[in-house]
Amino acid sequence: MRRYAYHSMTAGQIQKRLLQWFDRHARVLPWRSAAARRDPYRIWVSEIMLQQTQVATVIPYYRRWLRLFPNVHALAAAKPAAVLKAWEGLGYYSRAHNLHAAAREVVRCHAGRLPADRDALLALPGIGRYTAGAILSIAFGQPEPLVDGNVARVLARLFAIRENVKSSHGQKRLWKLAGELVPAKRPGAFNESLMELGATVCTPQNPHCGACPLRVRCVARRHGEHECLPNVGRRPKSRLVRQRALLIWRNGQVLTRRRPAGGLLGGLWEFPDGDCRGVRCRVGPRIATVRHGVMQRRLDIEVFDCRWLGGEPAREERRVAWRWATSRNLQQLAFIGAHRKIIKLLSQQSRYRAAAHLDTQKPL
Ligand code: ADE
Repeated sequence: MRRYAYHSMTAGQIQKRLLQWFDRHARVLPWRSAAARRDPYRIWVSEIMLQQTQVATVIPYYRRWLRLFPNVHALAAAKPAAVLKAWEGLGYYSRAHNLHAAAREVVRCHAGRLPADRDALLALPGIGRYTAGAILSIAFGQPEPLVDGNVARVLARLFAIRENVKSSHGQKRLWKLAGELVPAKRPGAFNESLMELGATVCTPQNPHCGACPLRVRCVARRHGEHECLPNVGRRPKSRLVRQRALLIWRNGQVLTRRRPAGGLLGGLWEFPDGDCRGVRCRVGPRIATVRHGVMQRRLDIEVFDCRWLGGEPAREERRVAWRWATSRNLQQLAFIGAHRKIIKLLSQQSRYRAAAHLDTQKPL
């Protein structure tokens, strides 16, 4: 059995301790039921949703998703707008597009069954090394490793890896280690135990070392470095971006547009920012400033209440879809996150209630 240079714990001991700890302390989560673990589709959906997203946020989305699209066939048959609506608010929308495209490919090329083969999985849209490792180990019981942010942190601390875990060399080292550690028996539970330890015990700040099953062998802790690792390089500073959104009202309906497919946040709806040729309106008072953080940017969006004076969006503007939306439409369409905050604000205002009845334009 492989024994690691800097401490006396073998891979077998690490596996045993982690699995015992996981059996006792794993959170009960909907994708961890016995039925879900046998269903590669459910494991796949959960792993895609969990990328860059907290467990607590994912749970209601996951449940709703499975009610709407209980299997690959249902997802493959769904309309893109329905898929986008089910994903609305989870962010990183390419995940939803890819999941949908991959479901169609699984139906077309694999008779509706997710392949239990690494290369075949990697050929599907949105499935990279991490997701393939998760599906193969958790759903198919294959000893394939995985490394995500949580696993990188646990391994970097356990073995005192000081190089940047995001660098290609750092990644190579972590994947190699993860590959040496993953056991032939219960590989899925082992991989999940590493992620679980990172999520609940070996946290980025103030790790709960007293509760860690590997504490006596953690090299970073022994050297007092556990709070300094992992080395993630320098974080880019977040940038402030000022934007505006126009609420152009016409008979209780408000003008919205759908962003072009294929671009950033493609297919999602938003309020115009003023770039709306053909429509004449009087820009009224600023009614709110909405703040929204997204991908190293802090958006400051000034929201203006506007009155429609005439005209429709010009022809050349038709590369995007335009719609005069009722309050009901605002709930039904999938909106970009920042503008959903505006809708939430509106729903608390009398104007919105007026819009619901399609009556006069009262001030907010
Ligand atoms: N993060 C991503 N996938 C996870 C899983 N299966 N368990 C715990 N955390 C996760």
